Amino acid sequence: MSKRPLFHFTPEKNWMNDPNGLSHFNGEYHIFYQHNPENCYWGNMTWGHAKSKDLFAWEHLEHALYPDSKELGDIDGCFSGSAFVKDNELHLFYTGVEMTTKRLNEFGNTITVGDDDLISTQILAKSKDGINFEKVAKLEVPIPEKTCTAHIRDPKVWETDGKYYMVLGAKDQAGGKILMYESDDLKNWNIFTELKEPNMGFMWECPDLFEIGGKEVLVFSPQGIGTDGQVHIAGYYLGDFDYEKKEFIHSDLKRLDNGFEFYAPQSFLDEKGRRVLIGWLVNHAPLPGENFTGIMTIPRELNYKDGKLYQMPVKEIEKYRNKELGEFSELDNKNQYDLNLKIGTDKDFTLILFENNGVGLKLHFDFKENKIILDRSDIINDFKVLETFGLKRELNLEIKEPSIELRVIVDKCVAEIYINNGEYVMSAVVNPKLNQNKVILIGEILEKNIYELKR
Ligand code: FRU
Repeated sequence: MSKRPLFHFTPEKNWMNDPNGLSHFNGEYHIFYQHNPENCYWGNMTWGHAKSKDLFAWEHLEHALYPDSKELGDIDGCFSGSAFVKDNELHLFYTGVEMTTKRLNEFGNTITVGDDDLISTQILAKSKDGINFEKVAKLEVPIPEKTCTAHIRDPKVWETDGKYYMVLGAKDQAGGKILMYESDDLKNWNIFTELKEPNMGFMWECPDLFEIGGKEVLVFSPQGIGTDGQVHIAGYYLGDFDYEKKEFIHSDLKRLDNGFEFYAPQSFLDEKGRRVLIGWLVNHAPLPGENFTGIMTIPRELNYKDGKLYQMPVKEIEKYRNKELGEFSELDNKNQYDLNLKIGTDKDFTLILFENNGVGLKLHFDFKENKIILDRSDIINDFKVLETFGLKRELNLEIKEPSIELRVIVDKCVAEIYINNGEYVMSAVVNPKLNQNKVILIGEILEKNIYELKR
């Protein structure tokens, strides 16, 4: 039986990484993604494409962008980027790459010999119907001195007060940084400012800067600062961005997801005014028996409240809830459900998902330490690829409320756990056996609403 998730976006086949070009255009959601049309490993970066009316029922479409233009500079890859709706046209901004040296890797995919053997170009493509895209032009993007020219990528474009802005991931000798530009015509860009912090990794990928609830959030993926098997992480700074002074006063880096393999998230504003974010749950190889690699998170609605950024699954998922159930045992054999639990924090508890005989994905709450431990050691079933991103995560909770609220979405081989209305999220990909499909809670539940999720 396939372990392919039903509610998390996956490619029809082969490798997928970052979400790209997330947008809501003429009433339909679009997801583009880094895709290798050839096989289940990274390479031949092409923009996969799908659309949906509700962010869950996706219709797979033809690829939107192929790496095929020597002239524009994307002959060896159409790397990540974003979408921007303007004048009834869907604009795609992306990074084209040309490799100056090449070799085949163990999977038969072309990669560069040296890390810096890349020419990166920022490119604009457009579409009137949201299906057929035309590559329009290279962007004029001056590069500040001392910036490493090989690694400038992942344009995210938006409009504020009648001006266009763009952020690009970059690096210099000192480490990762973001180049921020402004423009009047979307083609000619001038440097606005650089955003960087010391000791924050060697390269910053996939930047995304947006306003929410009167605050600014800079989401990015710094490489080289993670621990516990995940070297590259994704996080955000929350603060105030002064466009006049070109100054960003912000918090420390916070993680968007305290689980295992979350990376390269991107957000967009939908036609309902919601800020929605999707991240990539990294896998470096397909789950045994499957023909695809890589899973997107559930689309998450972001909100700013009391000094914090909250994430919750978009409400459209509730439409896929089957009737409300009374007991966990009614979920046996499913591994596709939506649990809403309130549990006392005056003693320990352990929730086991994908359970059989006490074995499974364990979420343990340690009341003395006020922390949560997510442990997937027993549920990878020799799929070592998951081991590389670590088997245990610990999360210290700041609040000391008498109860904790958990929203748990389980979907075949993935669990997303939203804690206290989305103040924290922990995601985990697992490799359950067929009979590892129950839920148990050792501890005392105060309230629960349980639903099977059904297509
Ligand atoms: C992040 C990333 C991006 C790049 C893309 C290439 O995962 O490295 O910076 O554009 O993937 O596939």
